[in-house]
Amino acid sequence: MPIPPSEYVSNVWKQGIFDGRVVFVTGGAGTICSAQTRALVHLGANACIIGRNQEKTEAAAKDIATARSGAKIIGIGGCDVRNPDHLVKAAERCVKELGAIDFVIAGAAGNFVAPISGLTSNGFKTVMDIDVLGTYNTVKATMPYLIESAARNKTYPNGLTGGRIIYVSATFHYSGMPLQAHVMAAKASVDSIMASVALEYSPYGITSNVIAPGAIGGTEGMERLSSKQANPKLLASAIPIGRLGTIRDIADATVYLFSDAGNYVTGEVLVVDGGGWRNNTLSVGLDEGMKYPDFLLTGQFSKHVKSGRKAGSKL
Ligand code: COA
Repeated sequence: MPIPPSEYVSNVWKQGIFDGRVVFVTGGAGTICSAQTRALVHLGANACIIGRNQEKTEAAAKDIATARSGAKIIGIGGCDVRNPDHLVKAAERCVKELGAIDFVIAGAAGNFVAPISGLTSNGFKTVMDIDVLGTYNTVKATMPYLIESAARNKTYPNGLTGGRIIYVSATFHYSGMPLQAHVMAAKASVDSIMASVALEYSPYGITSNVIAPGAIGGTEGMERLSSKQANPKLLASAIPIGRLGTIRDIADATVYLFSDAGNYVTGEVLVVDGGGWRNNTLSVGLDEGMKYPDFLLTGQFSKHVKSGRKAGSKL
């Protein structure tokens, strides 16, 4: 059964605005990136989604294809963004099978809750590699195709666009967040890659922008960052708009930046967080009652978050 479009995209956008466009998405089977992709597909695009897990990526591709009759979606599993060759091959396959890469979403990311005292150099490096190197590798592998697309769509014929890239970042590094040293460093770097790409490639017609989601309900990110014992009402009350974000909020921002409405926006960070980072009372990995800095001094943060750690790791 296809997911009702109202769950992943608002109804203000015109059908067909992405007709014939192809989007290449790393981490495309994830909750946020699959919603972004689904919205673009619903509005006319075809898609190539990339992930490490073969089964999950192929299943997500099949599911996203239900967003529009006739949609062509490829799921490429076994692709690790840390390996530049994997991405080069995935981009080549996308162009061979779908004809182009018009849009890129660099969404693959790694996250877990850990204090610096519980984070090895390899743990830090793992997240830096997935987020930073992975983003850089994605840019390098897809840029030749994005440049071609931008050249083909220079005057936005019939409102159609091409040559756009969005990076999915975060807001933790704006003011700082305990237990996220690795992610803060990684996402600050992702924002900075976005700016470099904007400066060097906007003259070719490329737009390069970050979307920074806040706390988005029902996502893998929330499972990894928020304790299952956290009080959802308290969580929502820390956000000025008074609720968690939805995947639709992020998908709508994506549609805007890739559409004819986003032609003059490049080098920007679009924060979609209900004002959450400005309040700065949100924290990750804590059960109710755990207070800063006690949880650091006692080494007791929540055990009710999804850990990325494999059994038998060194810590
Ligand atoms: N706390 C502290 N360190 C941790 C950890 C945790 N919860 N989880 C993993 N690590 C460390 C490991 O201990 C290891 O370091 P070590 O070799 O010094 O012990 C290092 O990170 C690499 O772990 P490994 O499991 O080999 O890495 P991986 O490449 O298979 O997995 C992760 C990467 C850890 C980021 C994993 O969580 C992942 O695959 N995430 C992808 C999905 C995701 O995080 N999405 C986020 C959406 S917000």
